[in-house]
Amino acid sequence: MSLPNHRSWAEPFKIKVVELLKQTTREYREKAAREAGYNTFLLKSKDVYIDLLTDSGTAAMSDYQWAGMMLGDEAYAGSENFYHLESQMRKYYGYKYLVPTHQGRGAEHLISRVMIKPGDFIPGNMYFTTTRLHQELAGGSFVDVIIDEAHEPESTHPFKGNVDLQKLEDLIREVGAMKIPYISVAATVNMAGGQPISMENLKQVRELSSKHGIKVVLDAARAVENAYFIKVREKCFQDRSIASILKEMCSYTDTCSMSAKKDLLVNIGGFLATNDEDVFEEVRNLVVVYEGLHTYGGLAGRDMEAMARGMDEMVDLDHIHARVGQVEYVGSRLLNEGIPIVVPIGGHAVFLNAKKFLPNLKQLEFPAQTLAAELYLESGIRGMERGIVSAGRDPETGDHKRPKLELTRLTIPRRVYTQAHMDVVAESVLAVHERREKASGLRMTYEPKYLRFFQARFEKLT
Ligand SMILES: Cc1ncc(COP(=O)(O)O)c(C=O)c1O
Repeated sequence: MSLPNHRSWAEPFKIKVVELLKQTTREYREKAAREAGYNTFLLKSKDVYIDLLTDSGTAAMSDYQWAGMMLGDEAYAGSENFYHLESQMRKYYGYKYLVPTHQGRGAEHLISRVMIKPGDFIPGNMYFTTTRLHQELAGGSFVDVIIDEAHEPESTHPFKGNVDLQKLEDLIREVGAMKIPYISVAATVNMAGGQPISMENLKQVRELSSKHGIKVVLDAARAVENAYFIKVREKCFQDRSIASILKEMCSYTDTCSMSAKKDLLVNIGGFLATNDEDVFEEVRNLVVVYEGLHTYGGLAGRDMEAMARGMDEMVDLDHIHARVGQVEYVGSRLLNEGIPIVVPIGGHAVFLNAKKFLPNLKQLEFPAQTLAAELYLESGIRGMERGIVSAGRDPETGDHKRPKLELTRLTIPRRVYTQAHMDVVAESVLAVHERREKASGLRMTYEPKYLRFFQARFEKLT
């Protein structure tokens, strides 16, 4: 990806408050990793040096957002901050109705309950862990209709998040449109490596779905990052603002689920937004049961204010350029050194191709989990597994799902780390690569029933 018109660039902010980092010894980390069952989700954050576990809820808020927190209207009903959030959502995303939720999976839960009947099929541009689980718990089955290139770490297709329209049509023919309540479209596609969907493809998905009376539900967690890729990769959008691209993307969809912990630069929050009055009516009813009243949905007034203000900042070109640019910076350094990563470099994270990085390990020796553990042991940097552990088991056969992609994700929080931290990250990955033959793989010793990657435990194979 070429970044627009800059010779070099720097973070578009200065730092007002700092949080001190702690460095530890290898011996200390060996104990911490063992106690955490070699699962980076089970490490204590105090034992982590540079935390690249996730970009979810880990952003640094601006002074403008923190000032807004002091204006929290903590009334049980009809908080002023809800109305601000509603008007900001309409301005930037363009949907008619808003229902706040505590985070993205709260919205996914409500959408799945309201829209899916047992026996339904939900096509999507690759699965996401919580999204698919809510679809399955509502009695539906997820069907992957992403283009084949998305499963190829080395394919340089600029829009690996695109839907394969032929796969979608085949599914409609096979099961009938009546059994497909909606297509679930993520922008960007996290599990494919933070890859975008093109506006052209989204428009075609819209046309095909409308022809068959199927709704389109957008996972908008990183839609702003997607809009940036559309601007720099889809020629006719290069002169358009990020805000106008975002709004056009949403216009091809009926409903969105939102984890505000990503694009919106906050530490907690989410919502569901829709143009569909029937969906809104039912969700507004159900939110009271599962999240909270429809004007707070499990959030404090101050959290809604921070979200509303984050929307003004998320579409700023300098911000999004620096955000995606920082990911690109780390990825390019690794590529230049011959480290196998998913290309093109994604919007929120660099994904190490663990299958290639640790070719001696079989998939059931958990190469991506092993690589995440090795990186922590080397340097105190925390990434996470996105491979066979995250994929879970087939609910019918009980077998492991065996995804083609076996990745270790280094996710960059927004506005948190400097370029110097990114140099340390790149050098630490190189150090693990140099002694990769010594990595011995893992055995799973504890497996929870749902979303096992969060809490599974492992021990080292000797
Ligand atoms: C693409 C995507 N969708 C949905 C979610 C779920 O959001 P939350 O963690 O806020 O529940 C995530 C979280 O990482 C995500 O990356």
